Amino acid sequence: MTGAPWSTGAGRLPDGALAVAGVDVRDLVAEHGTPAYVLDEADFRMRARAYRTAFEAAFGAVGAGVDVYYAGKALLTVAVARWAREEGLRVDTASSGELAVALRAEVPGAEIGLHGNNKSDAEILRALDAGVGRIIVDSLVEIERVARLAGERGVVAPVMVRVTTGVHAGGHEYIATAHEDQKFGLSVNAADGAESPAMAALLEVLEHPELRLLGIHSHIGSQILDPDGFEAAARVVLRLRADLSERSGVLVDEVDLGGGYGIAYLPGDVALDPERVAKDIAQSVSGVCQELGTSLPRFSIEPGRAIVGPAGLTLYTVGTVKPVTVSADGGADFTRTYVSVDGGMSDNIRPALYGAAYHAEIVGRSSAAETVLARVVGKHCESGDIVVHEVQLPADVRAGDLLAVAATGAYGRSMASNYNMLPRPPVLAVSDGASRVLVRRETEDDLLGLDQG
Ligand code: LLP
Repeated sequence: MTGAPWSTGAGRLPDGALAVAGVDVRDLVAEHGTPAYVLDEADFRMRARAYRTAFEAAFGAVGAGVDVYYAGKALLTVAVARWAREEGLRVDTASSGELAVALRAEVPGAEIGLHGNNKSDAEILRALDAGVGRIIVDSLVEIERVARLAGERGVVAPVMVRVTTGVHAGGHEYIATAHEDQKFGLSVNAADGAESPAMAALLEVLEHPELRLLGIHSHIGSQILDPDGFEAAARVVLRLRADLSERSGVLVDEVDLGGGYGIAYLPGDVALDPERVAKDIAQSVSGVCQELGTSLPRFSIEPGRAIVGPAGLTLYTVGTVKPVTVSADGGADFTRTYVSVDGGMSDNIRPALYGAAYHAEIVGRSSAAETVLARVVGKHCESGDIVVHEVQLPADVRAGDLLAVAATGAYGRSMASNYNMLPRPPVLAVSDGASRVLVRRETEDDLLGLDQG
């Protein structure tokens, strides 16, 4: 079966094997081996365009401008940054390394944002030297730090203040970021009688001639499937903007609503529809600004997963297949077939870290066999090394089979490790019947080269 959660270019060939963008996965594997990340370029571009055009149309209809920043943390390579830019997106970075990739891709500094709750002086200086369009400041001490460094460089730093709105959204506690007890941003809520940390930070920025206050930033979480959270957070941010204007006479020009747009990971999952969500948010913010009696700011959003997640899949080779009898609490024993592949938690930490669910299929051939309840596991030395918790696979699954896991484009390669000294897999792009290597496979020599003995 193809369709979501597979990329739009994925389809079965007459003999049952999978092809992506006209490239037979068996050919990819013959040339590049497994494990390998495969990116469907046209799918990435289509989603980048879909988000940009949907938000431009919906916000344009209420009289507001909007910029879409691709959140590079989901996956950033030089080619990926170029694709994003060619589709009219800007690039959001969260470290000096991500900034370096965007700059290598010749994304103009003015179209790059820099995030981070603990930016170093070196990162801030690099951003200032590159002329980044926005540094999103995350704390009072950082405001001082950016002001000092901008002063040293003799430039005025464009900043946004990241606030936490109290809106809690997203798939897992670790990826929901706007609730209070976590490290990001400055709260809009004040202790009795006191000024909120968010307001204090905004006023502080206005005190510094080395800083230009662009606006307010809010990111509420990730893998969000209900658009209400975005609207609720936008309302809080717009009210803060109006309050700031009352306090200081400054009505800031920009509001960033962050990323977090959810995708389909399993067959039957329904992703957020960019047109729908853009319309809902645009209409809501327009109404809120009317209520508040303020003009509309320029908006921006920062989708990462929704652009690159569905474009990616991971190819593995099956090794050991082991039926395991499981004694179920209070129920009958059942058999689970453990299917081991040649990667695992080092190339996709999400199942182990968040309990994330994925879908897998055997993709090198067709099978008429009945299906069995399977668990796809990696080759690492721990039992939590699970790639797919639960999936039906053909009962004749065997060593040498090619197995693909869908929708691994976001936060797979970007969160990969070398656990157990496994070299990280390559990132291969497929497009119009051809493939190319975006990031080559690591080798043991790469890893040993770091070890100084
Ligand atoms: N903007 C900011 C400020 C963010 O912190 C993030 C994600 C994004 C945008 C992009 O969010 P997206 O549209 O991709 O959901 N590693 C986790 C997700 C953590 C995301 C952290 N920040 C995962 O694998 O699900």
